[in-house]
Amino acid sequence: MYLLGSFVTANWIALVTAQQQGYLGFNSGATLDSSKAKEQADFEREFRTAQGLRSSPGSFNSVRLYTNVQSGTTDAPISAFPAALATNTSMLLGIWCSGTTSIRNELTALQSAISQHGQPFADLVVGISVGSEDLYRISESGIENEAGIGTGPDEIVDFIQEVRSSIANTALSQKPVGHVDSWSAWANSSNSAVIEEADFIGTDLYPYYEKDKGNTFSNATTIFEYIYNETLSAAGNKPVWITETGWPAEGPMFGQAEASIENAKTYWDQIGCGLFGRTNVWWYTLRDSNPANKEKFAITDDLSTTPKFNLSCPADSGAPASINNDAQSAASMVGSDPLLWPMSLCAVLATVGWLI
Ligand SMILES: *[C@@H]1O[C@H](CO)[C@@H](O)[C@H](O)[C@H]1NC(C)=O
Ligand SMILES: *[C@@H]1O[C@H](CO)[C@@H](O)[C@H](O)[C@H]1NC(C)=O
Ligand SMILES: *[C@@H]1O[C@H](CO)[C@@H](O)[C@H](O)[C@H]1NC(C)=O
Ligand SMILES: *[C@@H]1O[C@H](CO)[C@@H](O)[C@H](O)[C@H]1NC(C)=O
Ligand SMILES: *[C@@H]1O[C@H](CO)[C@@H](O)[C@H](O)[C@H]1NC(C)=O
Repeated sequence: MYLLGSFVTANWIALVTAQQQGYLGFNSGATLDSSKAKEQADFEREFRTAQGLRSSPGSFNSVRLYTNVQSGTTDAPISAFPAALATNTSMLLGIWCSGTTSIRNELTALQSAISQHGQPFADLVVGISVGSEDLYRISESGIENEAGIGTGPDEIVDFIQEVRSSIANTALSQKPVGHVDSWSAWANSSNSAVIEEADFIGTDLYPYYEKDKGNTFSNATTIFEYIYNETLSAAGNKPVWITETGWPAEGPMFGQAEASIENAKTYWDQIGCGLFGRTNVWWYTLRDSNPANKEKFAITDDLSTTPKFNLSCPADSGAPASINNDAQSAASMVGSDPLLWPMSLCAVLATVGWLI
């Protein structure tokens, strides 16, 4: 048992530390839970709460957006942009690609933001995701789960190229352009053209939704490790960013998976704490914005800076020097909070060992 634990742990650490980045943030939809458009003040409040969370293991000063277009407009830039500038929040931008044959409005909004805000805007852009789970939606499981209208791999490749030509000769020209999808879409070899085209691979990882994998909560780490590794294997030498992961605090049973605050906290400790500062992570999430979702993932109520559970990471272990150095360079990218540090190899080891 011990040997098996060590084997799995060594792989996990190799996987995570190979990524060498450390943006830390939450996902953010364009609307409130009521479907009302978020205005600049809404985004600002959100970003300030993310940076000011009590007991946080680091500063959540990055955000992943799904669209450049302000909700309710045709092609006006989303008010998250000025809010990010006001709060020094870095952004993984999103181009919405499903249910459309053209991304012209997305690109118009982006060009307006570049002319309006210039270099300070560009300095906050981590990268651009062309699409979000579009390939999952047209997959067998996406269709079975009625996930909605998606987009095929050839179209995503075309859209990525279109984004690259649109940002050439702008302040964003050097930014990585990639795609976000579920791990299963990346593991599907019919989609490999997207991996070849993308500068980065964004992966959405939810052991909660893996009802075919025995998704009882005590299995969450095993499932996470499997689906993360599947993405990494498919991605080859492309960087893999964790664009969504989390466990719902409320909601119905999904297969054997139970939503609860206690499980959300344990998932944070066992999965999140091993990743924060070691690879880019946009957690799901600070505030729910999809009214159709029966599961509620928000870690706060009404953007209170007092979260639903204690966010402190297990700090009872020190990492070996080599890992420490990696973590330090990654942590310096997410801020100087020393509390980010203690999450260590040993914490992950203990976790994985415990589950095996
Ligand atoms: C990850 O996937 C690769 C390729 O499928 C496999 O060889 C390796 O054992 C896996 N590692 C872990 C930790 O599951
Ligand atoms: C903005 O945040 C970055 C790190 O995320 C930091 O290096 C920089 O100093 C901050 N700028 C201001 C003006 O606070
Ligand atoms: C694999 O991807 C292709 C293209 O995106 C899709 O049509 C197919 O349904 C996927 N396979 C499964 C098993 O979902
Ligand atoms: C845990 O996951 C593995 C792999 O998917 C599965 O074989 C096993 O049955 C699951 N365990 C439980 C208790 O559901
Ligand atoms: C959170 O947990 C940590 C470590 O167990 C503890 O030191 C801290 O006081 C707790 N914070 C709150 C706000 O309960």
